[in-house]
Amino acid sequence: MSIQGKNILLGVCGGIAACKIPMLVRILKKRGAHVRVLMTDAATKFVTELTLATLSQEPVQKDIFPGGYSSREDWTRHISIGEWADAYVIAPATANTIARLAAGMCDDMLTAAFITLRPKKPKFLFPAMDGEMSGSATVRKNLKWLSENGCRVIEPESGSLASGQCGAGRMPEPETIAATIEETLVEHRSRFLKSKSIVITAGPTREKIDDVRFISNYSSGKMGFALAAAAAGRGAAVTLITGPVQLKTPEGVRRIDVENALEMDNAVKEHYRSCDICIGAAAVADYRPADRSAGKIKKSIETMDIALVKNPDILAGFAAQKTSSQIAVGFALETEGNIGSAREKLDRKKLDLIAYNTYDGKTSGFDVDTNILTLIGRDGSIDELPLLSKPEAAERMLDAIEKLLNSDE
Ligand code: PMT
Repeated sequence: MSIQGKNILLGVCGGIAACKIPMLVRILKKRGAHVRVLMTDAATKFVTELTLATLSQEPVQKDIFPGGYSSREDWTRHISIGEWADAYVIAPATANTIARLAAGMCDDMLTAAFITLRPKKPKFLFPAMDGEMSGSATVRKNLKWLSENGCRVIEPESGSLASGQCGAGRMPEPETIAATIEETLVEHRSRFLKSKSIVITAGPTREKIDDVRFISNYSSGKMGFALAAAAAGRGAAVTLITGPVQLKTPEGVRRIDVENALEMDNAVKEHYRSCDICIGAAAVADYRPADRSAGKIKKSIETMDIALVKNPDILAGFAAQKTSSQIAVGFALETEGNIGSAREKLDRKKLDLIAYNTYDGKTSGFDVDTNILTLIGRDGSIDELPLLSKPEAAERMLDAIEKLLNSDE
């Protein structure tokens, strides 16, 4: 279990403990997390933006109105940053910022993101200040309110303080902060999928024309593999049935390699009864050559017709026979930006959830590392996700699947 691929937002306030934050960023990055840093003006007196930008490999953000607007992303950065994060960690949290958070103020990026963070994403506060400040009635009142309203407050440790005094006020060491985040994220994500059996199809299929040629598509398998890794990370028993791809099997995942749609269909059928959830991320060829020629077809004529026959619809086959406790989830890649046809596929294939997959040939769809999905539920719910890495899009899909499991329980 790790924080590999998780998006961690780190809010840094102006206190001497900010000098420990570069080390925290390094630890989180080393463990594979994506880190973005938000700073208050006061924080920049203790640690530089350059240091944190260099270590996080992301620009540091401070103001809500930084200027230089050129895209939708620039105008609404305070919202997309909250949508991006899997967890928000404010360390060190000073008395001033704690008061602003408790009052619901959002006059800089750090406080605005506290409000735009998606519901249920964990928020951590690591207060660090002088002992007298930490024990003051206003700080206590504000921390109590924040902890009663979904924020995890990690009380400071005792020891020598910057004032030369001894007492409670020290921020925990970066290793301890990283361990706290890790424990919470793993616990947060594994509740509903733990021990569930999930079958995921991924990649393209190859439909042979002769022994050396085939019909296929550009699917790389990245989306299906990201789903498999994320589901295994949440404790699910994952079987990944994949067409030909060049990807490493995610840790803890059982992989079955197939070549064509009929083989993929047979492999999924083996799990009809035993699986709790079936996710179709594969780009299955809808048709296959009616006859496969042996050897290599000779080039003898100017034009050539290849008769195609329809392949079975693997996911619809699962959905048609599933029990009410099983869940069927599909994708619908549409090149014309038509959400209506994704909805139509959800209904026709009798799915519980479908990810309408925008295709733009650059940032979303086949063979890229990012994706733009809109999750459409059978109940008519719609969740338009921003541009996300495929691992993060996978996590968001699993959040939606967990909600379905939760509503059934
Ligand atoms: O692999 P990547 O490069 O990461 O790209 C990811 C992806 C673009 C392939 C993926 O995100 C995606 O959108 N997959 C579905 C592609 C598609 O166009 O599906 P479809 O509209 O043909 O089918 C709808 C659903 O039915 C899909 O869940 C599909 O897996 C399933 N299906 C389709 C046909 C078929 N014969 N059997 C099926 O199970």
